[in-house]
Amino acid sequence: ARLVVLVSGSGTNLQALLDAIGDDPEGYGARIVAVGADRFGTGGAERAERAGIPTFVCRVKDHATRAEWDEALAAQVAAHRPDLVVSAGFMKIVGPAFLAAFGGRTVNTHPALLPSFPGAHGVRDALAYGVKVTGCTVHFVDDGVDTGPIIAQGVVEVTEEDTPEGEAALHERIKEVERSLLVEAVGRIARDGCRIEGRKVHLGHVGE
Ligand code: GRF
Repeated sequence: ARLVVLVSGSGTNLQALLDAIGDDPEGYGARIVAVGADRFGTGGAERAERAGIPTFVCRVKDHATRAEWDEALAAQVAAHRPDLVVSAGFMKIVGPAFLAAFGGRTVNTHPALLPSFPGAHGVRDALAYGVKVTGCTVHFVDDGVDTGPIIAQGVVEVTEEDTPEGEAALHERIKEVERSLLVEAVGRIARDGCRIEGRKVHLGHVGE
């Protein structure tokens, strides 16, 4: 399968995919054909360049409207003919044009146990709520904010040491689980396919 990965940040999730694919894309079932970012200078794009993967940038501020940005993003992604799009720390909500082209085959990773704590501050919000467990969710993207059908989840315990100021430390522990969860989920979809029935995601068994 051909993957386009979208990033906004340091790109450690992208790196985990790159490492898993290594020099055996056949074995993994997928290879990354391009990496897109919503701004210049992301760690993610740097990692892609180091791996010899083409990159592109699509910035909201270079477009007259959000809708035009959404169309441009969809076109830039489409140019690489992906089978699957992976939003790996891409901090933008895609719009109707993008979903028309890639809905049902765009996977996002979120650092909380959805449907709790969606949005840009999932780690902070979970800590502030006082939860005892949190984690990460890999899900398909739909037209809501972190609302699409869930593919996989991983659990991380919150301990006495996790103070509200300790958001970054907790996020790091979540990201350790998140990276393997994403690698596993994307690999399984790439190798075995998947079927979405309402809110339920069935991995494998395509065509059964
Ligand atoms: C991840 O925790 C992702 O879920 C989030 O931002 C982080 C991205 O990390 N929303 P990285 O850029 O892959 O290192």
